[in-house]
Amino acid sequence: MLNVALPKGRLGEKVYAMFASAGFECPEVLMESRKLVFENEETGVRYFWVKPSDVSVYVERGAADIGVAGKDIIDEYKRDVYEILDLKKGKCRMCVAAKKDFVDNPGTTIRVATKFRNIARTYYSSIGRDIDIIHLNGSIELAPVLGMSDVIVDIVETGTTLKENGLEVIETIMPISARVIVNKASFEFKKNDIIKVINSLEKQIEEKN
Ligand code: PRP
Repeated sequence: MLNVALPKGRLGEKVYAMFASAGFECPEVLMESRKLVFENEETGVRYFWVKPSDVSVYVERGAADIGVAGKDIIDEYKRDVYEILDLKKGKCRMCVAAKKDFVDNPGTTIRVATKFRNIARTYYSSIGRDIDIIHLNGSIELAPVLGMSDVIVDIVETGTTLKENGLEVIETIMPISARVIVNKASFEFKKNDIIKVINSLEKQIEEKN
């Protein structure tokens, strides 16, 4: 059995659809229930739903041979896994944003609210800027609105959340999309099965792009 960790939520459903079209179906996966593990003996795949930010933990520890995680999660947590394939789904970007009237004073320490501490630190150190990180777990946009931070480092997809809160992008740090990650030991011991999945997914991507 190949163990696959899927990120719970809308992206996970899209990703499962790709695996299914690639020949690794398990219809039970999409049924409304509290069940977390689903397997199809015929296709030899066992799926489980996990919190998107936890996918790389399951893969690093070998509980999952394969997982799908956003590039944001991969770069933020830097787990010891192979990043094998860009699924070109869940596209968005990691940005610095601020209130429309924000004026930066380059000589000062900038207050940055974010869920992505490492990505923010790496970005600001690359431009030689001192920062004061304010770590939040959600609704990051609120921080500059309330004057708690100068900027945010966060994901922007449609831009609606920024717009509706009077914020705008100042800088794009990097594009984000869903990636297939693989456990390092599994890539040795289950290489043929993993390559079969990757090749079939690659075909899907080529057909759709
Ligand atoms: C994400 C992100 C932004 C929003 C961006 O939040 O943190 O808040 O989506 O999307 P948009 O550009 O299409 O408006 P999420 O919904 O994951 O919730 P969160 O506030 O808990 O981070």
